[in-house]
Amino acid sequence: MSEMENSSRLRWRIEDIDFDLVDPEAVHDNEFLFHMLASASFVEILADKYSANLIAHFGGNAEVTTWLKESWQEEEVQHGRALKAYVNKVWPEFDWDAAHAAFWQEYSSFCLVEQLEPQRALELMGRCVVETGTTTMYRAIYNYVREPVLRQMIGNIAADESAHYAHFRRYFSIYNAVEKHGFGAVAAAIWRRMRDIGGQDAYLAFKHVYAARHPERPFQEADWQRYHKAVKVQSRRDYPHAVAVKMLLRPIPMFEPFRRLLEWPLLGVAKLVSLS
Ligand SMILES: [Fe+2]
Ligand SMILES: [Fe+2]
Repeated sequence: MSEMENSSRLRWRIEDIDFDLVDPEAVHDNEFLFHMLASASFVEILADKYSANLIAHFGGNAEVTTWLKESWQEEEVQHGRALKAYVNKVWPEFDWDAAHAAFWQEYSSFCLVEQLEPQRALELMGRCVVETGTTTMYRAIYNYVREPVLRQMIGNIAADESAHYAHFRRYFSIYNAVEKHGFGAVAAAIWRRMRDIGGQDAYLAFKHVYAARHPERPFQEADWQRYHKAVKVQSRRDYPHAVAVKMLLRPIPMFEPFRRLLEWPLLGVAKLVSLS
């Protein structure tokens, strides 16, 4: 398949974003936004390096592997490239390539392959967890930003992430109709993935973004703690807690009224966690 046909599968193209319309003055002084966008770009752009073993895990299922290669991976990398382009436009003094190279050097030294769930349905559930995380994170950023070009771009990214979730959820139902994992096994897989994505990527990305932004002083844990706290404070206003709970619960096999019964207490827990 040609490059042209590949890229035409994308729902939007980086070329559609008119970076000339950005008014750098309107956002340049927002250090919080800078760290958030640069960190996200660092992680997203790695999708092409980390998709091979996921694709291999679904070997024999051409529908899944084709979608992973030609849509999912391409879209994730485009998220990284678009965020990078925006960062370069507004903060040209930041040497993205050098900072990313330092990040990659540390990251790749201990994270060569991702841990996958041996059972395919459970790995797909794990992917639903990851895509719930990205969908809701970008929706929160969308609620936070005011600059129109960035809003358009983040809106596009959030829509991709939610489409990824929908794909993984559909594949999960197909696989789980055969593997038949019940409530306990699926809930445990959700828990494991939530624990695994507990922030190592975000931490390392922030560390290298921050270090490159402040070459005059060494990075300290307190810098991360301060940023992390700021994210939490902002999340109280902008994070779609109810959407996150719904997305996580939806694929779990259970009696429908029980699902509705669980949503409210879990929403309370999610809000409490974000307050802590
Ligand atoms: Fe993404
Ligand atoms: Fe995604």
